[in-house]
Amino acid sequence: MTAELPRPLHAPRASTAGGPGLFVTFEGGDGAGKTTQASLLERWLTEKGRATVRTREPGGTEVGVRIRDIVLHHRGHIAARAEALLYAADRAHHIETVVQPAIARGDVVIQDRYLDSSVAYQGAGRVLDADDVRALSLWATDGLLPDLTVLLDLDPDAARRRLDADDKPFDRLEAEKSDFHARVRAGFLALADREPERFLVLDATEAPDVLAARVRDAVEQRLA
Ligand code: TYD
Repeated sequence: MTAELPRPLHAPRASTAGGPGLFVTFEGGDGAGKTTQASLLERWLTEKGRATVRTREPGGTEVGVRIRDIVLHHRGHIAARAEALLYAADRAHHIETVVQPAIARGDVVIQDRYLDSSVAYQGAGRVLDADDVRALSLWATDGLLPDLTVLLDLDPDAARRRLDADDKPFDRLEAEKSDFHARVRAGFLALADREPERFLVLDATEAPDVLAARVRDAVEQRLA
């Protein structure tokens, strides 16, 4: 007897199917420079007269801010599956109440982290099944995928040096050991390999203005 395959929880779709806007996400390890690049892109689009929404996960809504506090600052263990569900819950609320309405209005959504972070951190990092983690997020978001995902790739040792120089206390994920961060990096690169048309992979050691120009080119292509 052959075992029945589980039914996929949700089929993905590109965000443009849901409205005239554009959905751009920034991904990468901690300390890779996502926030800087997201800000530069926002400034450029605003100068061009495009309406933008700048947001992030976890914590892009009031509910999300509370979830963010748990996942990043809870003292003590959180079960890996519970952690994955918390990120997915933050995402479900954020996409329905902030991101989808913005895309429907025609805005460009610029977001720090999205479901690829869950696949890399909870999948590769915590060693949950990557396809399960992805399916959970696709269910949570009704299948929404970004039009463009910029992956800022950085060696975890270099990232650690940047974070040390920042002098901020580490959160729960940042405090993980270097083999965790090495798995996360490999997880992101594997995702980019699987979807080369969605991902733009950049070497995060390049100068910020060089990276910003590459991001602008990719966004311009998708707006055309
Ligand atoms: P981030 O907001 O980028 O941290 P910071 O503002 O301190 O730079 O992300 C918070 C942390 O949450 C980061 O270590 C990655 C982690 N994370 C996951 O593990 N899974 C997820 O799905 C997301 C969105 C983030």
